[in-house]
Amino acid sequence: MAELVHLAIEDGIAVITVDNPPVNAFSHAVRVALQSAVRNAFANAAAKALIIHGAGKTFMAGSDIKEFDAPPKDPWLGEVIDEIEAGSKPVVAAIHGTALGGGFEVALGCHYRICDAKAKVGLPEVTLGIIPGAGGTQRLPRLIGVEAAIATAGSGKPMSAAEALKKGAVDEIASGDLMTAARAAAKRLTGTAPRRTSEQPFPGGPQTPAFFEAQRGAMKKRNRGFPAPPTVVDAIEAATKVAFREGLARERAFNAELKDSLQSKALRHLFFGERTVAHIPGIPKDTSLRPIEAVGVVGAGTMGAGIAVNFLNAGYRVAVTEAKEEALARGRNTITKIYDREVEKGRLKPEAREDRLNRLTLSLDMGALKDVDLVIEAAFEDMGIKQEIFRKLDAVCKPGAILASNTSTLDLNQIANVTQRPQDVIGTHFFSPAHIMRLLEVVRGAKTANDVIATLMAAGKKIDKVAVLSGVCFGFIGNRMFEGYVRESQRLLLEGATVQQVDKALTDWGMAMGPHAVIDLAGVDVSFLTREGNRANLPPDPTYCLIGDKLHHLGRHGQKTKKGFYKYGEKGAEADPEVEQLIRDEAGRLKIAQRTFTDQEIVERCLFPLITEGAQILDEGIALRSVDIDVVWCAGYGFPRFRGGPMFHGDAIGLQAVVDGMARFAKVQGNDYGYWTPAPLLTKLAAEGKTFKEWSRT
Ligand code: COA
Repeated sequence: MAELVHLAIEDGIAVITVDNPPVNAFSHAVRVALQSAVRNAFANAAAKALIIHGAGKTFMAGSDIKEFDAPPKDPWLGEVIDEIEAGSKPVVAAIHGTALGGGFEVALGCHYRICDAKAKVGLPEVTLGIIPGAGGTQRLPRLIGVEAAIATAGSGKPMSAAEALKKGAVDEIASGDLMTAARAAAKRLTGTAPRRTSEQPFPGGPQTPAFFEAQRGAMKKRNRGFPAPPTVVDAIEAATKVAFREGLARERAFNAELKDSLQSKALRHLFFGERTVAHIPGIPKDTSLRPIEAVGVVGAGTMGAGIAVNFLNAGYRVAVTEAKEEALARGRNTITKIYDREVEKGRLKPEAREDRLNRLTLSLDMGALKDVDLVIEAAFEDMGIKQEIFRKLDAVCKPGAILASNTSTLDLNQIANVTQRPQDVIGTHFFSPAHIMRLLEVVRGAKTANDVIATLMAAGKKIDKVAVLSGVCFGFIGNRMFEGYVRESQRLLLEGATVQQVDKALTDWGMAMGPHAVIDLAGVDVSFLTREGNRANLPPDPTYCLIGDKLHHLGRHGQKTKKGFYKYGEKGAEADPEVEQLIRDEAGRLKIAQRTFTDQEIVERCLFPLITEGAQILDEGIALRSVDIDVVWCAGYGFPRFRGGPMFHGDAIGLQAVVDGMARFAKVQGNDYGYWTPAPLLTKLAAEGKTFKEWSRT
């Protein structure tokens, strides 16, 4: 095995390099090797000062998250850091890339921190459902103050080098080469007494019980049902109240407790899941990508404009085309407004706005797309229209250009087959608003070439999306599953639950929004039209999304018409007696008995259809792995990350419990349309006592 930590002593300076690609994570073996290198350097008289840094693209990016499921093994990282800090020779942390979690904790244990101008430092543990466990909550507040430390560790957001310097989390930003500056710092510090962070007084700022209580309250409010952020406040409060060693012990105990929680397991599942989705079986990581510099977008509606903004933000040249002058002007306006708002909010410099707009061209002529490397069609969701556009693109675009459709439901193969180059055609399903939502479903057609898929998956990362590969089917992964979820949420209304009760049960459970509020936001008409597009395949069930259909026909199209499942006035969304009456009338007409529901029953009625449809999607090969489905739902549909996604949730409650629950619903509600017949894969895994996570196609 390659050496994980190198030690080189030269000119009085011991340089310790952690070399564990790709991100120098602290596995057990790295901890052992670092401890040994530090001990050797301290013991070696030739070394008067030490530098710790990382090989490759980054400083240490934290503990090895893969080891979290196993029992802890000594040495614990905190112990190695304590040895570094306690040493009698000055130790300099030289930071490039990202010093995160355990990596930043090592830097905090060093006596001097220098970084390059692009470096980032932070404690992202809360994003994994835990808190720092190797002194982060005890040392950071001694450098930057309690309030700033709570903000940093409680949000998990990294600080830029400039911010870290201003706050006091680092001591210097290297003006030139990092290692040259680090050596100079080590020389300067040689012979001086090490400045130990644990011995530093707190830099002032509030520390009263009332202050901590308010911080805890704010964290709880901001992170409903999610214990890690308020626990950061507990740990930092402990830092101000008890001796440093005792504080460390408390922090470690909090960390251990949270690490074993289902929430943390769910968040770790998603951490790896968001990276796993980039691995496509049969498409090697080193597949050569088609170069993309210029991007075309056909259609300047809300979606097209949002897509254009994504690529402009990532530095591409973007050409947008439209069929009519007014539509083009509207598109220009939408894009400009998005940037104006960013500038107003101070999130974008005016020069950056100019730069982005300078890279944008708008045209009524599709000939403007002749040189683009990738073109994304974002026109009206209609097969005829899309096929017509693809015929034109086929005629206009240069050989090798990737032709993508932003269809959300249509059969990509029918679109690809009107071109002479179906191997270059792919689906890119963005979610609205496209410049904000993180999810991108990349849809593989029957003939899509592997390098086209690899290029789109990589482009997804460049525009800051999480790209998940889906096969072709109606609605792809996300919208296909959404159908069953919506079907049950609306059926519950006919059985006696109210619109608010269903939405509240699901938001209390953790969904970002309730299903009815989502449809009101996206458009009752949009949801209706999606159903219309698939009507031939829907069951002949007179209750199927009946209330949604009725509301559509009444012109209650949701927020945009101020009326949908809710009515919208000055107070926001409110129950509407008219809708309640409509539901009662329809239930009476269909002779559906009314009853009351517990929140748990509502949640299960809506979630079990997701789980069984997800199983079917897996079985059909539409999604590659269950985690791909989880990522789709957490990144695109407001599924609570701390529950890991619908498939992880199914695994967590047990697949047999899902099967049993569906049998219970079949008994109460009947099963005329097979809604409550579990997908074969679900039945099989439940019978075998297995999980979706364990399952693989091979
Ligand atoms: N432990 C184990 N593996 C890790 C890891 C960690 N802390 N951080 C990253 N990796 C792995 C990823 O799973 C990925 O593996 P893969 O290539 O097999 O899919 C690989 O390292 C590269 O990571 P990726 O995130 O794709 O690289 P990036 O350059 O886009 O981002 C970081 C680099 C460091 C910013 C990012 O990986 C990150 O945020 N890591 C986690 C940091 C963290 O939370 N630390 C605290 C842990 S307590």
